[in-house]
Amino acid sequence: MKSKSKGGFSGSLGFILVAAGSAVGVGNIWRFPYLAAQDGGGVFLMIYLLLVLTFGFTLLTTDIAIGRRTKQKALTAFGSINSKWDFLGKLTFLIPIIIMTYYGVIGGWVLKYVTVYLSGNKSQATQSDYFTSFISSKVSPIVFMLIFMAVTVFIVYFGVEKGIERFSKMVMPGLIIMIAGIAIFSLTLRYTDTCGVERTGMQGLMLYLKPDFTGMTFSKFLKILLDAMSQLFFSLSVSMGIMITYGSYVKKDVNLSRSIKYIELFDTGVALLAGIMVIPAVYVFYGTQGMTSGPGLMFISLPRVFAAMGSIGTIIGLVFFLMVTFATLTSSISIMETLVANFMDLFHMSRKKTSLIMGIVFSAASVVICLGYNVFYFKLPLPNGQSAQLLDLMDYVSNSFLMPLISFLTCVFIGWVVKPKWIVEEMEASGDKFTRKKLYSVMVRYVAPIIMAALFFQSTGIL
Ligand code: ALA
Repeated sequence: MKSKSKGGFSGSLGFILVAAGSAVGVGNIWRFPYLAAQDGGGVFLMIYLLLVLTFGFTLLTTDIAIGRRTKQKALTAFGSINSKWDFLGKLTFLIPIIIMTYYGVIGGWVLKYVTVYLSGNKSQATQSDYFTSFISSKVSPIVFMLIFMAVTVFIVYFGVEKGIERFSKMVMPGLIIMIAGIAIFSLTLRYTDTCGVERTGMQGLMLYLKPDFTGMTFSKFLKILLDAMSQLFFSLSVSMGIMITYGSYVKKDVNLSRSIKYIELFDTGVALLAGIMVIPAVYVFYGTQGMTSGPGLMFISLPRVFAAMGSIGTIIGLVFFLMVTFATLTSSISIMETLVANFMDLFHMSRKKTSLIMGIVFSAASVVICLGYNVFYFKLPLPNGQSAQLLDLMDYVSNSFLMPLISFLTCVFIGWVVKPKWIVEEMEASGDKFTRKKLYSVMVRYVAPIIMAALFFQSTGIL
């Protein structure tokens, strides 16, 4: 099929920064620290690192190599290799459709917090029901979401090289500097609480880094493993069609093996730094109890930490939420780009027209998700034991249900139908060596399908 969505990255650096921009998002800065804090720090960290180097590497390599070899986007890539597997492209393409309905909503929440710190009124965000009353209000979350979506569409509208690549090259280096700066600051913190107990940032760091197996049971270990695994999909943007689409924009002379190493390093490095930025700061002011607040860590606990820092907290809070906004934007752009590129090919429309239509359609869908906290409020018990509102439901269907299923099917397809050699050939097409090819073959044929199937059965409540 002739692709209408022509365009591509200028070279390896552009590709690495754009792919890292997609990977680094709220997953790294919001989800990773709260999961690490909740799952006891060091143990979670150790498992996560092991998973990145095995599963993360396998899934990222598979997606990017499929994209570059077929030169097709997610929707048509699988069918172009084997027509019987065309359904897998359609299934994969469902993921960005689902995620785009709520990613802009979270982007809007982050943007709202930027305005709180810009106005210098940081104490309002420390009130216990501030976040809940904001997200359940009828107008404000919609306005912030619409602004966030408008910026996303604006960048995608200008295309791969002039829009997305230029924006990522501008934002990513600054993002790393800001994260590293706040992480270092976090380690210098020191606070004596009302009981006279002094806690330091370095103690918080130790808590984060040192694996503590006391009281570890098999079921607790399994829970940590599953948390780390679902975090990995979301964080690396794999099994969502995004990396297949981005892979199709990469030139043949780019060393894929090396680029993938950098993307893994970027994504994991930012997640680790986000943990260093958040966990010691929360520990210093609120002790180990403060670390168990789960998803509320970024929107509820951190504003209290910034308030406890005194006047410098306003600047740190502002820099922090600005940085999260940029990280969320580069990811949101990658999801929107996947939608736009695929629909351009499907309906033979121009980029500009498709971007505008997608912008309108997904903004409307995001309005419905915003209203999930008031007009359409419900509490639905999920098969994994959690209860969900509209946004959580979408997140569950994409991350916990579809992603493990798609990863399983992709590994079976590549490992047993197409055979790993097909991917290895693409990885070496630039004339560079694919150093981890043995690991890749074993992972994609044996280890990954078994674990993905187990993960799917666990999250659907069958296991
Ligand atoms: N990979 C993106 C994130 O971490 C979706 O937010």
